[in-house]
Amino acid sequence: MRIAILASGTGSNFEAIMKAKQKGIVTDDICLLFSDQKQAPVLEKAKKYGIPTVSFSPSEFASKELYEKQLRELLLSQKIGFVVLAGYMRILGSGMLETYANRIINIHPSLLPSFPGRHGIKDAFTYGVKVTGVTIHYVDDGVDTGPIIAQKAVEINPYDTLETLEIKIHSTEHALYPQVIAELTKNMN
Ligand code: GRF
Repeated sequence: MRIAILASGTGSNFEAIMKAKQKGIVTDDICLLFSDQKQAPVLEKAKKYGIPTVSFSPSEFASKELYEKQLRELLLSQKIGFVVLAGYMRILGSGMLETYANRIINIHPSLLPSFPGRHGIKDAFTYGVKVTGVTIHYVDDGVDTGPIIAQKAVEINPYDTLETLEIKIHSTEHALYPQVIAELTKNMN
């Protein structure tokens, strides 16, 4: 299985997947890192691991449809069979969703359906829930709404701050995402 990772930011989940690949936990080939942000730190991380990178953004195209057409053609030209969103901050359009039906997954830093959107960790912390966590789900046309594949709970203790909670959530993500990717792609071709 040839995997592409789509990311817009820091790339800590990308790095966790690469480390799992080095340890043999993920056995599929990570063939491409795509970012819609030309300055995203994840691009440097990918180069460090020797992963080919491509970056372009919707602002370079006349429409969102043309941007996505280019992205879809890029993935098809690289014979990508499975797409992992790791901090990719855009909704995917119908072309991508149809071409890669049940083959695009995302990670979200809360127990969905609670706290969807960009600030899942902060929103849970501010609300005052005692348990939050991490969700991995198939991607559909909504914001963090696709069918859930895996979840892991993270407790919020009285002495947690937003910063300590962020650390706990991210380390939970980094453990869970590679395992789920390995499991899902094991029997795919
Ligand atoms: C993660 O918290 C992930 O759950 C969310 O975006 C963040 C990406 O972080 N979708 P990173 O770029 O992998 O460090």
